[in-house]
Amino acid sequence: MSMAALAHAGIAVSGLHPHIGAEITGVDLRQPLDETSFEVIREAWNRHSVLVLRDQRIDDEQQVEFARRFGTLEETTFTVAADNPYIYKLSNVDDEGNVLPIGSRKRLFLDVNARWHTDSSFRPIPAMGSILSGREVPGKEHGDTAFASMRVGYETLPEEKKRALEGLVAVHDYGYSLSLFDDGLIPQNEIDSVPPVRHPLVRTHPPTGLRSLFVSGHIERIEGMPVEEGRALVAELIEWCTRPEYVYRHRWSRYDLVMWDNRCALHRATVIPTTEPRLMHRATIAGEGPVA
Ligand code: OGA
Ligand code: MN
Repeated sequence: MSMAALAHAGIAVSGLHPHIGAEITGVDLRQPLDETSFEVIREAWNRHSVLVLRDQRIDDEQQVEFARRFGTLEETTFTVAADNPYIYKLSNVDDEGNVLPIGSRKRLFLDVNARWHTDSSFRPIPAMGSILSGREVPGKEHGDTAFASMRVGYETLPEEKKRALEGLVAVHDYGYSLSLFDDGLIPQNEIDSVPPVRHPLVRTHPPTGLRSLFVSGHIERIEGMPVEEGRALVAELIEWCTRPEYVYRHRWSRYDLVMWDNRCALHRATVIPTTEPRLMHRATIAGEGPVA
């Protein structure tokens, strides 16, 4: 990135963690974003996998407009839809605004996000990125989101392990990850609309050409392996990527905008608050094609 780009209109990129994440300052997404600033953001995103933009008091339209610059958006077809068809609403409150009590079925649904995953890996074209806006953020219970790089995870594997993983194919199945928590909250026809898909366990990150693991809590099994053995391998690789010193944990403030690259970053919710409301709006960028 050139110094000219860095200096453009006050926009700046600074690292948040040695292995993943950077903060962007000098941008107000309520205002039109010029092409040079956008390119600074895109480059930083490709490089750092997670970006934090603080104090972005945007509405759904502005969030969708920003997200669209990166590619086609996923339409929200699931139970958690907000009013805007491209906004997915993550909330721990019921329709009356009360925090969902522990044990409530809707809370179980949030638990799916508490396992390490990448978004929509259960689709034939997995999500390229997700852009999450903190609309209501708990002050005491926090509800941090944790991130880890699958590119760094791959890079740091012993060479013989890399060779052993080459060519393996994982089956990702939303019905499977839901089944770990859900007791019928999501209508069967929504689950049936996303049948299991196959993706390589090691992929290339298109913008950088770097190799990356592609593991996710949505993986149901590894082809050609006994189910339990495949699941154990996936668990081992996720643990490897998420060794504590490799994890960036984001502590939310209201109106933080956090975006991540689902092609090479894992994430999870750490705490689902039990007394304070937490409301996040997500726009999801669809992938550019099948996993490379
Ligand atoms: C998501 C997600 C985690 C969180 O939005 O895809 O997994 O902390 N969120 O809300
Ligand atoms: Mn997610």
